[in-house]
Amino acid sequence: MYLFKSEKQFASFLQKEKREGKKIGFVPTMGALHYGHISLIEKAKPECDIVVCSIFVNPTQFNDKKDLEKYPRPIEHDMEMLLKADCTVLYLPSVEEMYPEGKPHLKNYDLGYYDKVLEAAFRPGHFLGVANVVFRLLQKVNPDVLYLGQKDFQQIQIIRKMIEIENLPTKIEVCEIVREASGLAMSSRNVRLSDDAWNNATIISQTLFFLKENKNNFSSVSALRKEGIKMLKAIPDSIVEYLEVCDVETLRSIEISVEGKPAIILTAIWIDGVRLIDNVLL
Ligand code: PAF
Repeated sequence: MYLFKSEKQFASFLQKEKREGKKIGFVPTMGALHYGHISLIEKAKPECDIVVCSIFVNPTQFNDKKDLEKYPRPIEHDMEMLLKADCTVLYLPSVEEMYPEGKPHLKNYDLGYYDKVLEAAFRPGHFLGVANVVFRLLQKVNPDVLYLGQKDFQQIQIIRKMIEIENLPTKIEVCEIVREASGLAMSSRNVRLSDDAWNNATIISQTLFFLKENKNNFSSVSALRKEGIKMLKAIPDSIVEYLEVCDVETLRSIEISVEGKPAIILTAIWIDGVRLIDNVLL
């Protein structure tokens, strides 16, 4: 595996590969890798000649300073995982490399409704930070395909919008959520859960799958949503931020019926001080 920390060497390596007509797949991450990330690399490997993974804990997408400080950074372990996964390149830029202007000057993308609801309502400024850092990463990597996980469903829509605004040629490939045997969606934040909280967190996916399987037994979407919130609120030490049933494309809430519409249930919940998100397509 090649490791690049500085853009100069990385750029000349990529230029050479591009000249040879190699197809480049890109998996951007903030590290603390788990099998969810590795599954993106596994997906990219047979489809691309070169798989680039970046690890960069992006300060501009943390609206809570404490969350940024507490974000796990097990770089040695991450590198071992990438080596085992046979990833071609690890790009490990510094904050100075990503934001050479010092205090970051973020582009003020108009991300529309995607940046108003769900995650955006609870994490102001988060998606502007995501859109900006992914744009900067795409400029450096210039990949053919960007591999993103469905767990961050709203983030995918945001990145799609940014790519459209910037008129970039990169295609997005969305990969399924990878779950623990218990159903808990894999997340870098899971390591912060106590044993009890970990067990309790399995109720999140149980709730989502219960709602999916029983969607036709509810008199309305609002009854389904109410039941979901009730189930999540029963989790000890939990604070439910949202559980919404939304149109897959627009992320607008569906109020009446999910019949015939591609829909998704998305949720965010704090359990014992750890914020978790999950979703299920209907
Ligand atoms: O999903 C993530 O890990 C981050 O939001 C991303 C896309 C790497 C941007 O920092």
